[in-house]
Amino acid sequence: MDLMSKIVSLSKRRGFIFPSSEIYGGFGSCYDFGPLGVEMKNNIKKVWWDEMTKKQENIVGLDASILMRPEVWKASGHLTAGFADELVECKKCHHRFRKDFLEEKKCPDCGGGLTEPKKFNLMMKTFVGPVEDEAAVTYLRAETCQGIYVNFLNVLNSMRLKIPFGICQIGKAFRNEITPGNFIYRVREFEQMEMQWFCHPKETDKLFDYWKKERINWYLNLGIKKENLRAIEVPKKERAHYAKRQVDIEYKFPFGSPRFGGEAGWNEIEGIHNRGDWDLSNHSKHSGEDLRYFDEETKERYHPHIIETSVGVDRSFLVFLIDAYQEIKGGRTKTTEATKEIEVLLKLDKKLAPTKVAVLPLVRNKPKLIKKAKEVFKLLKPHFIVQYDELGSIGRRYRRQDEIGTIFCLTYDFQSLKDNTLTIRDRNTMKQERVKVKDLVKVLKEKLEK
Ligand code: GAP
Repeated sequence: MDLMSKIVSLSKRRGFIFPSSEIYGGFGSCYDFGPLGVEMKNNIKKVWWDEMTKKQENIVGLDASILMRPEVWKASGHLTAGFADELVECKKCHHRFRKDFLEEKKCPDCGGGLTEPKKFNLMMKTFVGPVEDEAAVTYLRAETCQGIYVNFLNVLNSMRLKIPFGICQIGKAFRNEITPGNFIYRVREFEQMEMQWFCHPKETDKLFDYWKKERINWYLNLGIKKENLRAIEVPKKERAHYAKRQVDIEYKFPFGSPRFGGEAGWNEIEGIHNRGDWDLSNHSKHSGEDLRYFDEETKERYHPHIIETSVGVDRSFLVFLIDAYQEIKGGRTKTTEATKEIEVLLKLDKKLAPTKVAVLPLVRNKPKLIKKAKEVFKLLKPHFIVQYDELGSIGRRYRRQDEIGTIFCLTYDFQSLKDNTLTIRDRNTMKQERVKVKDLVKVLKEKLEK
Protein backbone atom coordinates (compact mmCIF):
# COMPACT_ATOMS: atom_id res chain seq x y z
CA MET A 1 0.00 0.00 0.00
CA ASP A 2 1.38 3.46 -0.79
CA LEU A 3 1.73 6.13 1.89
CA MET A 4 -1.40 8.09 0.91
CA SER A 5 -3.55 4.94 0.98
CA LYS A 6 -2.16 4.18 4.45
CA ILE A 7 -3.00 7.69 5.66
CA VAL A 8 -6.53 7.49 4.23
CA SER A 9 -7.05 4.07 5.79
CA LEU A 10 -5.70 5.11 9.22
CA SER A 11 -7.86 8.25 9.12
CA LYS A 12 -11.03 6.23 8.59
CA ARG A 13 -10.15 3.30 10.86
CA ARG A 14 -9.19 5.45 13.84
CA GLY A 15 -11.80 8.19 13.57
CA PHE A 16 -9.88 11.10 12.03
CA ILE A 17 -11.61 11.57 8.67
CA PHE A 18 -14.60 9.90 6.99
CA PRO A 19 -15.96 10.38 3.45
CA SER A 20 -19.01 12.64 3.52
CA SER A 21 -22.45 11.00 3.11
CA GLU A 22 -20.70 7.64 2.97
CA ILE A 23 -23.84 5.53 3.41
CA TYR A 24 -25.08 7.09 0.14
CA GLY A 25 -21.81 6.35 -1.63
CA GLY A 26 -19.85 9.48 -0.63
CA PHE A 27 -20.11 13.01 -2.01
CA GLY A 28 -17.61 14.45 -4.49
CA SER A 29 -14.50 15.14 -2.44
CA CYS A 30 -16.27 16.27 0.73
CA TYR A 31 -15.05 14.86 4.04
CA ASP A 32 -16.24 14.68 7.64
CA PHE A 33 -13.86 14.98 10.56
CA GLY A 34 -14.42 12.23 13.12
CA PRO A 35 -13.92 12.34 16.91
CA LEU A 36 -10.12 12.46 16.68
CA GLY A 37 -10.15 14.58 13.55
CA VAL A 38 -12.21 17.33 15.09
CA GLU A 39 -9.93 17.48 18.14
CA MET A 40 -6.85 17.71 15.96
CA LYS A 41 -8.45 20.28 13.67
CA ASN A 42 -9.42 22.40 16.68
CA ASN A 43 -5.84 22.09 17.96
CA ILE A 44 -4.42 23.33 14.65
CA LYS A 45 -6.81 26.28 14.68
CA LYS A 46 -6.00 27.11 18.29
CA VAL A 47 -2.25 27.05 17.72
CA TRP A 48 -2.63 29.34 14.68
CA TRP A 49 -5.06 31.67 16.49
CA ASP A 50 -2.75 31.95 19.51
CA GLU A 51 0.19 32.60 17.22
CA MET A 52 -1.63 35.48 15.55
CA THR A 53 -3.52 37.07 18.44
CA LYS A 54 -1.08 36.43 21.31
CA LYS A 55 2.43 36.00 19.94
CA GLN A 56 2.26 38.58 17.18
CA GLU A 57 1.77 42.24 17.97
CA ASN A 58 -1.32 44.18 17.00
CA ILE A 59 -3.51 41.53 15.40
CA VAL A 60 -7.20 41.26 16.22
CA GLY A 61 -9.69 38.59 15.24
CA LEU A 62 -12.92 38.56 13.25
CA ASP A 63 -15.65 36.08 12.33
CA ALA A 64 -17.52 37.38 9.29
CA SER A 65 -20.49 35.68 7.65
CA ILE A 66 -20.04 33.24 4.80
CA LEU A 67 -22.80 34.81 2.73
CA MET A 68 -22.19 38.38 1.61
CA ARG A 69 -23.63 40.80 -0.91
CA PRO A 70 -22.70 39.62 -4.45
CA GLU A 71 -21.14 43.06 -5.07
CA VAL A 72 -18.29 41.99 -2.77
CA TRP A 73 -17.26 39.33 -5.28
CA LYS A 74 -17.63 41.67 -8.23
CA ALA A 75 -15.32 44.18 -6.57
CA SER A 76 -12.80 41.53 -5.54
CA GLY A 77 -12.50 40.21 -9.10
CA HIS A 78 -13.73 36.73 -8.23
CA LEU A 79 -16.67 36.79 -10.63
CA THR A 80 -14.51 37.51 -13.64
CA ALA A 81 -11.79 35.58 -15.44
CA GLY A 82 -9.34 36.12 -12.58
CA PHE A 83 -10.90 33.39 -10.46
CA ALA A 84 -11.45 30.80 -13.15
CA ASP A 85 -9.54 27.72 -14.19
CA GLU A 86 -9.21 26.51 -17.75
CA LEU A 87 -11.31 23.43 -18.28
CA VAL A 88 -11.05 20.87 -21.07
CA GLU A 89 -13.47 18.02 -21.76
CA CYS A 90 -12.74 14.62 -23.26
CA LYS A 91 -14.70 14.26 -26.51
CA LYS A 92 -15.10 10.50 -25.91
CA CYS A 93 -15.82 9.91 -22.19
CA HIS A 94 -16.81 13.53 -21.37
CA HIS A 95 -14.65 13.65 -18.24
CA ARG A 96 -13.47 17.15 -17.43
CA PHE A 97 -10.00 18.23 -16.37
CA ARG A 98 -8.08 21.33 -15.38
CA LYS A 99 -5.87 22.10 -18.36
CA ASP A 100 -2.87 23.04 -16.21
CA PHE A 101 -2.99 19.63 -14.46
CA LEU A 102 -2.61 17.63 -17.67
CA GLU A 103 0.80 16.46 -18.76
CA GLU A 104 -0.32 15.42 -22.25
CA LYS A 105 -2.90 16.73 -24.70
CA LYS A 106 -5.17 13.69 -24.37
CA CYS A 107 -7.66 12.35 -21.84
CA PRO A 108 -5.81 10.68 -18.93
CA ASP A 109 -8.80 8.33 -18.40
CA CYS A 110 -9.45 6.99 -21.90
CA GLY A 111 -6.89 8.61 -24.20
CA GLY A 112 -9.61 10.49 -26.14
CA GLY A 113 -9.18 13.91 -27.75
CA LEU A 114 -9.88 17.05 -25.75
CA THR A 115 -12.03 20.11 -26.44
CA GLU A 116 -10.59 23.63 -26.61
CA PRO A 117 -10.12 25.06 -23.07
CA LYS A 118 -13.02 27.03 -21.58
CA LYS A 119 -12.87 29.32 -18.53
CA PHE A 120 -14.73 27.84 -15.58
CA ASN A 121 -15.51 30.10 -12.62
CA LEU A 122 -14.95 28.51 -9.22
CA MET A 123 -17.49 30.49 -7.18
CA MET A 124 -20.34 28.42 -5.67
CA LYS A 125 -23.64 30.07 -6.49
CA THR A 126 -26.67 29.99 -4.25
CA PHE A 127 -29.99 31.80 -3.74
CA VAL A 128 -31.02 33.79 -0.70
CA GLY A 129 -34.73 33.87 0.14
CA PRO A 130 -37.69 31.97 -1.34
CA VAL A 131 -37.49 33.17 -4.95
CA GLU A 132 -34.77 31.68 -7.09
CA ASP A 133 -34.29 34.58 -9.51
CA GLU A 134 -31.23 36.62 -10.51
CA ALA A 135 -31.93 39.20 -7.79
CA ALA A 136 -31.58 36.49 -5.13
CA VAL A 137 -28.23 35.14 -6.35
CA THR A 138 -25.25 35.22 -4.06
CA TYR A 139 -22.14 33.12 -3.53
CA LEU A 140 -20.56 31.03 -0.82
CA ARG A 141 -17.32 32.82 -0.05
CA ALA A 142 -14.29 31.54 -1.94
CA GLU A 143 -11.79 33.11 0.46
CA THR A 144 -12.41 34.34 4.01
CA CYS A 145 -10.38 37.54 3.63
CA GLN A 146 -13.09 39.46 1.74
CA GLY A 147 -15.09 39.47 5.00
CA ILE A 148 -12.07 41.21 6.56
CA TYR A 149 -11.81 43.90 3.85
CA VAL A 150 -15.48 44.82 4.00
CA ASN A 151 -15.10 45.20 7.78
CA PHE A 152 -11.88 47.19 7.55
CA LEU A 153 -13.47 50.45 8.77
CA ASN A 154 -15.56 48.74 11.47
CA VAL A 155 -12.52 47.07 12.99
CA LEU A 156 -10.26 50.11 12.59
CA ASN A 157 -12.72 52.45 14.31
CA SER A 158 -14.12 50.15 17.00
CA MET A 159 -10.65 49.03 18.11
CA ARG A 160 -8.97 52.44 17.62
CA LEU A 161 -6.12 50.83 15.69
CA LYS A 162 -3.16 52.45 14.03
CA ILE A 163 -1.37 51.21 10.93
CA PRO A 164 0.39 48.77 10.82
CA PHE A 165 -2.03 46.21 12.22
CA GLY A 166 -3.53 42.88 11.30
CA ILE A 167 -6.94 41.19 11.25
CA CYS A 168 -7.15 37.42 11.31
CA GLN A 169 -9.96 35.02 10.68
CA ILE A 170 -10.65 31.30 10.52
CA GLY A 171 -13.63 30.00 8.59
CA LYS A 172 -15.13 27.95 5.82
CA ALA A 173 -14.52 28.68 2.16
CA PHE A 174 -15.99 27.01 -0.91
CA ARG A 175 -14.69 26.48 -4.43
CA ASN A 176 -16.23 24.51 -7.23
CA GLU A 177 -12.91 22.85 -8.04
CA ILE A 178 -12.79 21.09 -11.40
CA THR A 179 -10.29 18.50 -10.25
CA PRO A 180 -10.54 17.98 -6.51
CA GLY A 181 -8.49 15.12 -5.13
CA ASN A 182 -5.62 13.71 -3.13
CA PHE A 183 -7.87 13.13 -0.13
CA ILE A 184 -8.33 16.43 1.78
CA TYR A 185 -5.64 18.26 -0.22
CA ARG A 186 -8.03 19.78 -2.76
CA VAL A 187 -11.68 19.79 -1.73
CA ARG A 188 -14.72 21.90 -2.52
CA GLU A 189 -15.51 22.87 1.07
CA PHE A 190 -12.59 23.72 3.33
CA GLU A 191 -11.46 26.01 6.11
CA GLN A 192 -8.95 28.81 5.77
CA MET A 193 -6.82 30.58 8.38
CA GLU A 194 -6.08 34.00 6.95
CA MET A 195 -4.30 37.05 8.31
CA GLN A 196 -4.36 40.42 6.57
CA TRP A 197 -1.64 42.85 7.57
CA PHE A 198 -2.52 46.47 6.70
CA CYS A 199 0.47 48.70 6.19
CA HIS A 200 1.93 51.74 4.47
CA PRO A 201 2.87 51.01 0.83
CA LYS A 202 6.53 51.75 1.58
CA GLU A 203 6.66 48.98 4.19
CA THR A 204 5.42 46.10 2.07
CA ASP A 205 8.72 44.53 1.00
CA LYS A 206 10.13 44.43 4.52
CA LEU A 207 6.89 43.06 5.96
CA PHE A 208 6.51 40.48 3.22
CA ASP A 209 9.87 39.00 4.17
CA TYR A 210 8.97 39.14 7.87
CA TRP A 211 5.75 37.17 7.34
CA LYS A 212 7.39 34.67 5.02
CA LYS A 213 9.90 33.83 7.73
CA GLU A 214 7.32 33.73 10.52
CA ARG A 215 5.07 31.37 8.61
CA ILE A 216 7.85 28.94 7.71
CA ASN A 217 8.92 28.89 11.35
CA TRP A 218 5.37 28.09 12.42
CA TYR A 219 5.55 24.74 10.61
CA LEU A 220 9.08 24.00 11.78
CA ASN A 221 8.15 24.74 15.41
CA LEU A 222 5.30 22.28 15.08
CA GLY A 223 7.72 19.56 14.06
CA ILE A 224 7.47 19.56 10.26
CA LYS A 225 10.74 18.26 8.85
CA LYS A 226 12.85 20.97 7.26
CA GLU A 227 13.65 18.88 4.19
CA ASN A 228 9.93 18.57 3.42
CA LEU A 229 9.28 22.31 3.40
CA ARG A 230 10.26 25.05 0.98
CA ALA A 231 9.16 28.52 -0.07
CA ILE A 232 9.09 29.43 -3.73
CA GLU A 233 8.60 32.73 -5.49
CA VAL A 234 5.63 32.40 -7.84
CA PRO A 235 6.24 33.82 -11.35
CA LYS A 236 3.92 36.57 -12.57
CA LYS A 237 1.85 34.45 -14.97
CA GLU A 238 1.08 31.89 -12.22
CA ARG A 239 0.06 34.40 -9.56
CA ALA A 240 -3.45 34.98 -8.21
CA HIS A 241 -5.18 37.91 -9.91
CA TYR A 242 -4.74 40.21 -6.87
CA ALA A 243 -1.11 39.40 -6.08
CA LYS A 244 1.76 41.79 -6.84
CA ARG A 245 4.11 39.30 -5.27
CA GLN A 246 3.41 35.73 -4.14
CA VAL A 247 5.47 33.19 -2.28
CA ASP A 248 4.04 29.71 -1.82
CA ILE A 249 5.09 27.57 1.09
CA GLU A 250 5.20 24.07 -0.29
CA TYR A 251 5.36 20.62 1.26
CA LYS A 252 6.85 17.52 -0.31
CA PHE A 253 3.73 15.35 -0.54
CA PRO A 254 3.73 11.73 -1.69
CA PHE A 255 1.75 12.85 -4.76
CA GLY A 256 1.64 15.54 -7.36
CA SER A 257 3.39 16.66 -10.46
CA PRO A 258 6.37 18.99 -10.49
CA ARG A 259 5.58 22.68 -10.41
CA PHE A 260 7.60 25.10 -12.55
CA GLY A 261 9.64 22.09 -13.73
CA GLY A 262 10.79 21.19 -10.22
CA GLU A 263 10.90 17.94 -8.28
CA ALA A 264 7.74 15.82 -8.00
CA GLY A 265 5.65 16.03 -4.84
CA TRP A 266 6.03 19.72 -4.02
CA ASN A 267 2.60 21.26 -3.60
CA GLU A 268 1.34 24.49 -2.07
CA ILE A 269 0.12 24.58 1.51
CA GLU A 270 0.14 28.30 2.18
CA GLY A 271 0.33 31.51 0.18
CA ILE A 272 1.99 34.75 1.25
CA HIS A 273 0.64 37.54 -0.93
CA ASN A 274 1.37 41.18 -1.41
CA ARG A 275 -2.14 42.26 -2.47
CA GLY A 276 -1.16 45.93 -2.74
CA ASP A 277 -4.24 48.14 -2.54
CA TRP A 278 -6.20 45.89 -4.93
CA ASP A 279 -8.89 44.97 -2.42
CA LEU A 280 -9.45 48.17 -0.47
CA SER A 281 -9.37 50.46 -3.49
CA ASN A 282 -11.78 48.21 -5.41
CA HIS A 283 -14.15 48.04 -2.44
CA SER A 284 -13.95 51.85 -2.10
CA LYS A 285 -14.84 52.19 -5.77
CA HIS A 286 -17.70 49.68 -5.80
CA SER A 287 -19.27 50.48 -2.42
CA GLY A 288 -18.90 54.27 -2.53
CA GLU A 289 -17.38 54.19 0.99
CA ASP A 290 -13.98 55.79 1.47
CA LEU A 291 -11.82 52.97 2.82
CA ARG A 292 -8.67 55.07 2.94
CA TYR A 293 -6.73 55.40 6.17
CA PHE A 294 -5.91 58.83 7.57
CA ASP A 295 -2.56 59.17 9.30
CA GLU A 296 -2.97 61.81 12.04
CA GLU A 297 0.76 62.48 12.23
CA THR A 298 1.70 62.80 8.55
CA LYS A 299 -1.79 63.94 7.44
CA GLU A 300 -1.54 61.40 4.65
CA ARG A 301 -4.71 59.67 3.40
CA TYR A 302 -4.21 56.40 1.54
CA HIS A 303 -5.49 52.89 0.90
CA PRO A 304 -3.34 50.66 3.10
CA HIS A 305 -1.48 47.91 1.30
CA ILE A 306 -2.03 44.35 2.40
CA ILE A 307 0.32 41.49 3.11
CA GLU A 308 -1.70 38.32 3.46
CA THR A 309 -0.87 34.92 4.89
CA SER A 310 -3.39 32.26 3.87
CA VAL A 311 -3.42 28.58 4.73
CA GLY A 312 -6.03 25.84 4.58
CA VAL A 313 -6.82 24.03 7.83
CA ASP A 314 -7.54 20.83 5.93
CA ARG A 315 -4.36 21.05 3.86
CA SER A 316 -2.16 21.70 6.89
CA PHE A 317 -3.98 18.86 8.71
CA LEU A 318 -2.85 16.53 5.91
CA VAL A 319 0.71 17.85 6.15
CA PHE A 320 0.84 17.25 9.91
CA LEU A 321 -0.54 13.71 9.47
CA ILE A 322 1.85 12.75 6.69
CA ASP A 323 4.90 14.25 8.35
CA ALA A 324 4.15 12.54 11.68
CA TYR A 325 3.49 9.10 10.21
CA GLN A 326 6.21 6.53 10.87
CA GLU A 327 6.34 2.79 10.42
CA ILE A 328 8.72 0.75 12.54
CA LYS A 329 9.44 -2.69 11.13
CA GLY A 330 9.62 -5.39 13.79
CA GLY A 331 8.22 -3.01 16.41
CA ARG A 332 9.85 -0.62 18.82
CA THR A 333 10.17 -2.80 21.89
CA LYS A 334 13.68 -4.14 22.32
CA THR A 335 12.91 -6.19 25.44
CA THR A 336 10.79 -8.72 23.54
CA GLU A 337 11.70 -10.49 20.31
CA ALA A 338 10.88 -8.62 17.09
CA THR A 339 7.53 -9.81 15.80
CA LYS A 340 8.22 -8.62 12.24
CA GLU A 341 4.99 -6.70 12.59
CA ILE A 342 4.96 -3.11 11.49
CA GLU A 343 4.18 -0.66 14.27
CA VAL A 344 2.77 2.72 13.38
CA LEU A 345 3.80 5.78 15.33
CA LEU A 346 2.08 9.10 14.76
CA LYS A 347 4.64 11.53 16.09
CA LEU A 348 2.39 14.57 16.19
CA ASP A 349 3.44 17.64 18.12
CA LYS A 350 2.07 17.70 21.68
CA LYS A 351 -0.12 20.68 20.88
CA LEU A 352 -1.67 19.00 17.86
CA ALA A 353 -2.20 15.41 19.00
CA PRO A 354 -5.94 14.78 19.43
CA THR A 355 -5.60 12.55 22.50
CA LYS A 356 -3.15 13.62 25.15
CA VAL A 357 -3.52 10.78 27.65
CA ALA A 358 -4.72 7.16 27.78
CA VAL A 359 -5.54 5.30 30.97
CA LEU A 360 -4.85 1.58 30.78
CA PRO A 361 -5.45 -0.91 33.60
CA LEU A 362 -2.68 -3.54 33.40
CA VAL A 363 -5.10 -6.46 33.37
CA ARG A 364 -8.84 -6.85 32.90
CA ASN A 365 -9.68 -9.58 35.35
CA LYS A 366 -9.07 -7.71 38.62
CA PRO A 367 -12.22 -5.71 39.47
CA LYS A 368 -10.42 -3.58 42.07
CA LEU A 369 -7.74 -2.57 39.56
CA ILE A 370 -10.37 -1.73 36.95
CA LYS A 371 -12.34 0.32 39.47
CA LYS A 372 -9.26 2.32 40.46
CA ALA A 373 -8.16 2.87 36.83
CA LYS A 374 -11.63 4.20 36.02
CA GLU A 375 -11.31 6.63 38.93
CA VAL A 376 -8.07 7.93 37.41
CA PHE A 377 -9.83 8.34 34.06
CA LYS A 378 -12.58 10.37 35.76
CA LEU A 379 -10.00 12.49 37.56
CA LEU A 380 -8.25 13.40 34.29
CA LYS A 381 -11.27 13.87 32.03
CA PRO A 382 -12.04 17.50 32.91
CA HIS A 383 -8.42 18.47 32.18
CA PHE A 384 -7.37 16.56 29.06
CA ILE A 385 -8.73 14.71 26.04
CA VAL A 386 -8.24 11.24 27.48
CA GLN A 387 -9.12 7.69 26.46
CA TYR A 388 -9.75 4.67 28.65
CA ASP A 389 -8.84 1.27 27.19
CA GLU A 390 -8.88 -2.15 28.87
CA LEU A 391 -9.18 -4.41 25.78
CA GLY A 392 -6.25 -6.63 24.74
CA SER A 393 -2.70 -7.03 26.01
CA ILE A 394 -0.94 -3.97 27.39
CA GLY A 395 1.55 -4.02 24.48
CA ARG A 396 -1.27 -4.01 21.94
CA ARG A 397 -2.94 -1.12 23.75
CA TYR A 398 0.30 0.92 23.72
CA ARG A 399 0.48 0.32 19.98
CA ARG A 400 -3.11 1.42 19.47
CA GLN A 401 -2.31 4.68 21.26
CA ASP A 402 0.98 5.19 19.37
CA GLU A 403 -0.95 4.87 16.10
CA ILE A 404 -3.13 7.86 16.98
CA GLY A 405 -0.31 9.88 18.49
CA THR A 406 -1.38 9.82 22.17
CA ILE A 407 1.35 11.58 24.13
CA PHE A 408 1.19 9.68 27.43
CA CYS A 409 -0.09 6.23 28.39
CA LEU A 410 -0.79 5.72 32.08
CA THR A 411 -0.78 2.15 33.36
CA TYR A 412 -2.52 1.24 36.56
CA ASP A 413 -0.82 -1.96 37.84
CA PHE A 414 -0.50 -4.09 40.98
CA GLN A 415 1.94 -1.71 42.62
CA SER A 416 -0.60 1.08 42.06
CA LEU A 417 -3.01 -0.76 44.35
CA LYS A 418 -0.38 -0.69 47.11
CA ASP A 419 1.08 2.81 46.88
CA ASN A 420 -1.34 4.82 44.73
CA THR A 421 1.22 5.52 42.01
CA LEU A 422 1.07 4.63 38.33
CA THR A 423 3.42 4.62 35.36
CA ILE A 424 3.53 7.33 32.72
CA ARG A 425 4.87 6.13 29.39
CA ASP A 426 6.20 8.74 26.97
CA ARG A 427 5.09 8.12 23.35
CA ASN A 428 8.38 9.17 21.77
CA THR A 429 10.90 7.55 24.12
CA MET A 430 8.72 4.74 25.55
CA LYS A 431 10.39 5.55 28.88
CA GLN A 432 8.24 5.03 31.95
CA GLU A 433 8.25 6.79 35.30
CA ARG A 434 6.11 6.34 38.40
CA VAL A 435 3.99 9.23 39.56
CA LYS A 436 1.60 9.59 42.50
CA VAL A 437 -2.03 9.69 41.43
CA LYS A 438 -2.58 12.81 43.53
CA ASP A 439 0.12 14.65 41.52
CA LEU A 440 -1.02 13.42 38.10
CA VAL A 441 -2.91 16.46 36.81
CA LYS A 442 -0.08 18.83 37.72
CA VAL A 443 2.66 16.57 36.34
CA LEU A 444 0.83 15.93 33.05
CA LYS A 445 0.06 19.63 32.57
CA GLU A 446 3.72 20.49 33.11
CA LYS A 447 4.86 17.82 30.70
CA LEU A 448 2.39 18.86 28.02
CA GLU A 449 3.37 22.48 28.27
CA LYS A 450 7.11 21.85 28.21
N1 GAP B 1 -7.06 34.67 0.24
C1 GAP B 1 -6.05 34.11 -0.54
C2 GAP B 1 -6.36 32.76 -0.98
O1 GAP B 1 -7.44 32.27 -0.80
P1 GAP B 1 -5.31 30.71 -2.20
O2 GAP B 1 -3.88 30.42 -2.57
O3 GAP B 1 -6.34 30.60 -3.28
O4 GAP B 1 -5.29 32.17 -1.57
C3 GAP B 1 -5.00 29.84 0.21
O5 GAP B 1 -5.72 29.78 -0.98
C4 GAP B 1 -4.90 28.48 0.84
O6 GAP B 1 -6.19 27.91 1.03
C5 GAP B 1 -4.13 27.46 0.03
O7 GAP B 1 -2.74 27.58 0.21
C6 GAP B 1 -4.66 26.17 0.61
O8 GAP B 1 -3.99 25.85 1.83
C7 GAP B 1 -6.10 26.51 0.89
N2 GAP B 1 -6.96 26.05 -0.22
C8 GAP B 1 -7.26 26.72 -1.35
N3 GAP B 1 -8.07 25.98 -2.13
C9 GAP B 1 -8.28 24.81 -1.49
C10 GAP B 1 -9.02 23.63 -1.78
N4 GAP B 1 -9.75 23.51 -2.89
N5 GAP B 1 -9.00 22.62 -0.87
C11 GAP B 1 -8.30 22.74 0.28
N6 GAP B 1 -7.59 23.82 0.61
C12 GAP B 1 -7.57 24.86 -0.26
